[in-house]
Amino acid sequence: MTETVERTGASDAADGGRAAVLEVTGLGVDIRTDRTWTGIVDDVDLVVRSGETVGLVGESGSGKTVTSLAVMGLLPPNARVRGTVRLNGRDLTALSERELDRVRGVEMGMIFQEPRRSLNPAFTVGDQVAESVRRHRGAGRREAWERAVDLFDLVGIPDPRRRAGAYPHEFSGGMCQRVMLAMAVACEPSLLIADEPTTALDVTVQKQVLGLIREIQQRLGIGVLLITHDLGVVAEVCDRTAVMYAGRIVEQTEVVELFDHPRHPYTAGLLAAMPDPRRHADRLGVIPGIVPPPHAFPAGCRFHPRCDHRREPTCTTADIPLRDVSVGLPHRVRCARADEITLEDTST
Ligand SMILES: Nc1ncnc2c1ncn2[C@@H]1O[C@H](COP(=O)(O)OP(=O)(O)OP(=O)(O)O)[C@@H](O)[C@H]1O
Ligand code: SF4
Ligand SMILES: [Mg+2]
Repeated sequence: MTETVERTGASDAADGGRAAVLEVTGLGVDIRTDRTWTGIVDDVDLVVRSGETVGLVGESGSGKTVTSLAVMGLLPPNARVRGTVRLNGRDLTALSERELDRVRGVEMGMIFQEPRRSLNPAFTVGDQVAESVRRHRGAGRREAWERAVDLFDLVGIPDPRRRAGAYPHEFSGGMCQRVMLAMAVACEPSLLIADEPTTALDVTVQKQVLGLIREIQQRLGIGVLLITHDLGVVAEVCDRTAVMYAGRIVEQTEVVELFDHPRHPYTAGLLAAMPDPRRHADRLGVIPGIVPPPHAFPAGCRFHPRCDHRREPTCTTADIPLRDVSVGLPHRVRCARADEITLEDTST
């Protein structure tokens, strides 16, 4: 990792006077298959402060889930991790599996794309949330049940006392995600990691669940890391965002700045591919090609085969560091030509 990134990462952690809940520094993940190690994620720096939502956005296969699994300590055994993951100042990569299990239940909550798959069909939703409260808070049976009912109320499940006695199959996808959210925030964690929490839901329910995450986050002062392939979701709920491509963060800034002044051609491509009523475009843009698989990451800028602005050898040989391009708002970009190229102004 470069000196520039270390310096700007540190100032990010102190920004806004709010404590950094999550500080990821120089994170790398390699996975071993057929006796070969392949680098999946590399040189990832992320900071999430209390009370803010940070998006991690990119196309399918860019490494978002692997990054979040590394943060949660949930990677498969054939993975190795580099760098540090600090939660409230403590390095999680140094903890035992037992200590991590406790951190995951108490300090860090998680929700995923398919809420129904994370619920046990044989138990009522109330029992499952109460059991989580008992396990992590050491509460008695009755107290845990009452807490589960309160949590169902918090996440907007109507008639929470009665609905706590229902089984997962009696709930819609949106309601199951509310149950998962109740479980995730049961111990009032300082960090919530949400990996595509609304992708499997229809648009109306998606908006409701995103609004609910925002509301709970603000009420409890939680830091949220929201993983999504959808810039519309980022626009709706995130304060800052990191754009990921081929296992690396390529741009990182405040959401307003990213939408109005993208500095990386990949971000500009994602924005052009997004329906935007302000632009009245007849056709949406498309980024030609696909994200390369990790065994075929190209040398130099990993985006160069798809980039209209590439120049040889600037873009095609040496690794491109993430560097500070802030003008007012903090802004970092991994593009060798960021100061030379003009990207479409998306603010008009
Ligand atoms: N256990 C694994 N073994 C080998 N390769 C893996 C493993 N897990 C992920 N990968 C590869 O790592 C890359 C990044 O995967 P990841 O699931 O993090 O992408 P993603 O950004 O979350 O995509 P999506 O939007 O589809 O969820 C992909 O090329 C994927 O095939
Ligand atoms: S470094 Fe070169 S190839 Fe990569 S995004 Fe910038 S201009 Fe495009
Ligand atoms: Mg994923």
